[in-house]
Amino acid sequence: MEFKFTEENQTKIEDILKRYPTKKAAVMPLLYLAQGQNGWVSSEVMKVVASLLDMPADEVLGVVTFYTMYRQKSMGKYHLQVCTNVSCMLRGAYKIYDHIKDKLNIANGGVTEDAIFSLEEVECMGSCGTAPMIAVNEDFFENLDVEKVDQILESFKNKN
Ligand code: FES
Repeated sequence: MEFKFTEENQTKIEDILKRYPTKKAAVMPLLYLAQGQNGWVSSEVMKVVASLLDMPADEVLGVVTFYTMYRQKSMGKYHLQVCTNVSCMLRGAYKIYDHIKDKLNIANGGVTEDAIFSLEEVECMGSCGTAPMIAVNEDFFENLDVEKVDQILESFKNKN
């Protein structure tokens, strides 16, 4: 499906480009902006970003596949990232991760049938002091247990 930045995002791109010495150096923020608009980084998105920055499409693909922050397929409206790195693991992250998998009936990288939630097991998100934690899209939820996770899932489900 064709991708085109919204007018609002085109203005943001102009501002972003002013902050970098070369066009190419702005590839990461532009991809992130595109992901915010499109929900994921499709090959159409990569083509548009490559063309805007005068970069080979293969180089853009290299960035997208290297950094886990870029989604390479369509995910749920609320993308759940569960940290299972050391601090979170020691404080019950796998109990939370397994609970979410069972409750939503999806595996790692999966999307619920209603496309409301998707799940991803991730490495440390820098919130070790308040482990265990998850992120829902951009928001962090910390010091969690299974009951708190249930409340979080319910609150996002009720937003629909
Ligand atoms: S180990 Fe989970 S946020 Fe650092």
